[in-house]
Amino acid sequence: MKVVVVTRSGRELIKGGLELDDSATVSDLQEAIHRRTRNYYPSRQRLTLPLLPGSKEKPTILHYRKSLKEYCSGNSDNLTVVFKDLGPQVSYQTLFFFEYLGPLLIYPIFYYLPVYQYFGYKGERIIHPVQTYAMYYWCFHYFKRIMETFFVHRFSHATSPLSNVFRNCAYYWTFGAYIAYYVNHPFYTPVCDLQMKIGFGFGLLCQISNFYCHILLRNLRRPNGNGGYQIPCGFLFNIVTCANYTTEIYQWLGFNIATQTIAGYVFLVVATSIMTNWALAKHLRLRRLFDGKEGRPKYPRRWVILPPFL
Ligand SMILES: NC(=O)c1ccc[n+]([C@@H]2O[C@H](COP(=O)([O-])OP(=O)(O)OC[C@H]3O[C@@H](n4cnc5c(N)ncnc54)[C@H](OP(=O)(O)O)[C@@H]3O)[C@@H](O)[C@H]2O)c1
Repeated sequence: MKVVVVTRSGRELIKGGLELDDSATVSDLQEAIHRRTRNYYPSRQRLTLPLLPGSKEKPTILHYRKSLKEYCSGNSDNLTVVFKDLGPQVSYQTLFFFEYLGPLLIYPIFYYLPVYQYFGYKGERIIHPVQTYAMYYWCFHYFKRIMETFFVHRFSHATSPLSNVFRNCAYYWTFGAYIAYYVNHPFYTPVCDLQMKIGFGFGLLCQISNFYCHILLRNLRRPNGNGGYQIPCGFLFNIVTCANYTTEIYQWLGFNIATQTIAGYVFLVVATSIMTNWALAKHLRLRRLFDGKEGRPKYPRRWVILPPFL
């Protein structure tokens, strides 16, 4: 079969098109494009079906596992696809590893090293127990996230744009340094013992629940499956769509109850607003996918992220 590859401006990317087997998949086409263009390796390519002029619809994205024949109209042996360069890509593991590595390393620097001397504090620094527990709590959290990235999550997309590494690292590394600076500060005033225990105890419970939520999400996909979406259920997912975000937010609340810094609460507000936006989108996606029509199950009534408010 003949495949014509055009750019979004309508220019032919590969002059004369490509000849492929009738049994070829989208992945074979991507490999063929890579062989002819060198720079555009498969995960950099987004292939869609052309839209009719003036159409406002979203174009159909070609799935790499599907056969090209599935996208041909009728018995036609010709296919035209629209190519978009997604830019340099990194794997999701690489993206998450670097964004979590920053806070994991930066926080202990403020705890262990005499950094406050460089900010003009000359006196001896007394370390309160809450500061020590906060350091272990913080490092446990980011270590857990790195381990989950490599051994728990089953991502649907193989890669993410390289630019996201810089954006996400700026977010996590800056907040890591900002919070570490204030919690380990020589003039830090600790909260009472009971408040510290309640905060860390509650936070740890939420971290464990968050881990369990990730295991439940993992079990929704088979190891080599095609990355589709299922209705999450069991444990807190029976009440709230994004139970993993809910427990993430509450574990940061626990950390803040125990450490009480403005920096920590600023992070909590920013992280909550980001996760709320994502949760709304995920909730809508599940309701759209599981609409109860044509034999599809209906998505049950659930809170989105923060019951009983949202
Ligand atoms: N502090 C912060 O600012 C912040 C922000 C975001 C996340 N986090 C933490 O990082 C964790 C991971 O974040 P995330 O945004 O990657 O979480 P997520 O999108 O909810 O999902 C985690 C994994 O489960 C998969 N998944 C989600 N819903 C699914 C469904 N219905 N069916 C099948 N698989 C499904 C996801 O697949 P896909 O690859 O398809 O998405 C992903 O691999 C969060 O749970 C949270 O603890 C923290």
